[in-house]
Amino acid sequence: MKNSNRFSCSRRKFSRQLFISATAMSAAPILLPGIVQAQSSNPLKIGIIGSGRIGGSVGLRWAEAGHEILFSSRNPDQLNDLVTQAGPKARAGYPQEAAEFGDIVFVAVPYAATPQVGRDYGALMHGKIVIDCGNPYVQRDGEMAAVALEKGTGVASAEFLPGVKLVRAFNALSWVEVNEEAHRDGELIAIPIAGDDQEAVAVATQLVIDAGFDPVIVGGLDKAGLFDQGTAVYVKGMTAREMRAELGL
Ligand SMILES: NC(=O)c1ccc[n+]([C@@H]2O[C@H](COP(=O)([O-])OP(=O)(O)OC[C@H]3O[C@@H](n4cnc5c(N)ncnc54)[C@H](OP(=O)(O)O)[C@@H]3O)[C@@H](O)[C@H]2O)c1
Repeated sequence: MKNSNRFSCSRRKFSRQLFISATAMSAAPILLPGIVQAQSSNPLKIGIIGSGRIGGSVGLRWAEAGHEILFSSRNPDQLNDLVTQAGPKARAGYPQEAAEFGDIVFVAVPYAATPQVGRDYGALMHGKIVIDCGNPYVQRDGEMAAVALEKGTGVASAEFLPGVKLVRAFNALSWVEVNEEAHRDGELIAIPIAGDDQEAVAVATQLVIDAGFDPVIVGGLDKAGLFDQGTAVYVKGMTAREMRAELGL
């Protein structure tokens, strides 16, 4: 029951109820903006390592966009509720299966576990696009977090996850925003992105859009530190305009 109801926010629940009521009253389905999204014209296979708060909520947004998701856990039977919420194109498995399955792998684990993810699943992820959203916190992750922050996470994560097309994204907003603010009306919340591989950055950019946010490409992996935890743009709910101004882009 670990993930039970974790990813449903009141606004989404309310809107889904509206959708259900509306469709029940009408012969033809009524599509409510922001709730029933246009399905991605290019469905991707995405494996998620770490299906907790951020991995679960981002995975749900991608499932809504039509992507095929393998949510993983070291105890995959705990993901039943999440998989049910995500719909028929989602399933649960072990982290190894997510690394194997995904053309893209989303790594959403406590930062101290990132080296182990690299050691255990690096060979399976070799050459793949890997989006890493982990944030180093000394109080949770220990001394390695201070070292990673000093280098910048783009540089540090590349050392932990060698041989992949690494992108840093989805680290600088909260899982609550992913649940409550995706595809919101008006200007969207921005998600900063950094990566060295242009194809990987392009795919991550599309996945930010599919999740309901506004991509801001900040630069190569050496620039990921500009949106690490503790920076001026970290979990501030900024729009892309505001973020570009703050970062001088
Ligand atoms: N929470 C947020 O709003 C947010 C936003 C952006 C970025 N982040 C960052 O994203 C990461 C995850 O945060 P979270 O809040 O989602 O944490 P969480 O809710 O605790 O989920 C983390 C998941 O990682 C998995 N995990 C832990 N150690 C693992 C290992 N050695 N191998 C494979 N899987 C492992 C756990 O899955 P099992 O125990 O089921 O295997 C757990 O469900 C952190 O680095 C955090 O700083 C968090």
